[in-house]
Amino acid sequence: MSIKLKRATAIPSGDSLVILMEKGKKPQITGLSKEQLAYIANAGKQDAPNPVHINNYSRHYFFVLTKKGAKDATGIEAVRRDGALAFEAVNAEKLSKITIVDEMGDNDAALALAEGMALASYQFLKYFKDAKERKHKLTSIGIHSKGLATKAVNELQALVEATMHARTLVNEPVSFLTARQFSKEMQALGRAAGFKVEVFNKKKIETLKMGGLLAVNYGSPEPPTFNILEWKPTKPKNKKPIILVGKGVVYDTGGLSLKPTPNSMDIMKCDMGGGAAMVGTMYALAKNKLPLHVIALVPATDNRPGLNAYAPGDVIHMYSGKTVEVLNTDAEGRMIMADALAYASKYNPQLVLDAATLTGAAARAIGRQGVVAMGTAGDKVMGDLKTAGSEVHERVAEFPFWTEYGDDIKSTIADIKNLGGPEAGAITAGKFLEHFTDYPWIHVDIAGPAWLDKEDAYRTQGGSGVGVRLFYTFLKNMI
Ligand code: BES
Ligand code: ZN
Ligand code: ZN
Repeated sequence: MSIKLKRATAIPSGDSLVILMEKGKKPQITGLSKEQLAYIANAGKQDAPNPVHINNYSRHYFFVLTKKGAKDATGIEAVRRDGALAFEAVNAEKLSKITIVDEMGDNDAALALAEGMALASYQFLKYFKDAKERKHKLTSIGIHSKGLATKAVNELQALVEATMHARTLVNEPVSFLTARQFSKEMQALGRAAGFKVEVFNKKKIETLKMGGLLAVNYGSPEPPTFNILEWKPTKPKNKKPIILVGKGVVYDTGGLSLKPTPNSMDIMKCDMGGGAAMVGTMYALAKNKLPLHVIALVPATDNRPGLNAYAPGDVIHMYSGKTVEVLNTDAEGRMIMADALAYASKYNPQLVLDAATLTGAAARAIGRQGVVAMGTAGDKVMGDLKTAGSEVHERVAEFPFWTEYGDDIKSTIADIKNLGGPEAGAITAGKFLEHFTDYPWIHVDIAGPAWLDKEDAYRTQGGSGVGVRLFYTFLKNMI
């Protein structure tokens, strides 16, 4: 990654500075003229947009004026967003190095500012001929904040990197990121961060009789993979592992139930966003050596209408032994997730969390402002997930999960069908998955925010990496 976060023990004399301070206060930094101080005070009074920029020739100052008590989740998110604005201002000056100076005496706010700046600096330039020229110049962000622990800075660095890796995986088109390439990327990230990766090839998947994953893959010239990522520290706090399951549909054409063009297929390289989120989470866990035993399962394939494609009306024998009547081949995510969820059972898990770009219904319901969650893990775990979501502003909207929704997926020919009724599509998809679980479980539908058609502060356009910060923070809060 091109941005490096560092703790700064002193304010470097030459660096340009991003100064985090309370609106209405006088800057503590020395070397400003009377006129400059008056300019800053006036900007604060007039609610001028952040940051307030002063070019002092030898160095730049970017003042981020915040309200006192930026402590709650809303305040911290405002600082993160200010971080994105500060990055833009710094970038416009083509600076390669800046130091954040915290005049609030608030480590969390200083880190949030760094987080916003770093995440906003993400670029996906691989396919540009002039990538070098387009590349942002900023490579180093120092953080000067009294009492700030180096460990906290390193933790943030790993989490930002993990989010960026997830974004990149989503941004890679299927012309590059086939299921097998996705597995190779996981192996590379495993080597970089220190988690184990085992890849099952098509033969192994056939031996295991993962009928859902194989059915979705029938129409593709590319073989599927089933990926097992494991982080097992020497002294884990949990006896039974926590399992993460991520949807890895590297491209979703809808299969024979083809998605209508020109619109709905365009962004379907994002359909492995759940898998990317879990890979990113594993990266952050391993880099930060969290004392939890965590395993991620990522079933991967594309969904295409090739010659042998599975067809509406087919009955599929799933890995769990249940049968599924396929009524829409575009409801493929639940087919591959079902096999992975059933496979998770063999670990006797303490808890299973899954993430999937599963339904347009989830996206229609809440847009990109958060993720949709439901499940059987109980109120305490759901509450903890919501808390983590608020902390990192990947907010969690709990949907009802009443038994009656299950009626919509009853089949006349098989154990269940893969298509619900015209209503509550996100929930009936969840009810489908529930059939393949026998442990405490939460399903997270990230179809809304996985892909952003335009940027939103520090969330850059394209793959958002949503889920990484949510699941990492949820797991960290467990210890
Ligand atoms: N990958 C899509 C869901 C999706 C939609 C992801 C928008 C990201 C943005 C999923 O496989 C799908 O096609 N779901 C269908 C299910 C339906 C056929 C029951 C849908 O939501 O329309
Ligand atoms: Zn689909
Ligand atoms: Zn899909």
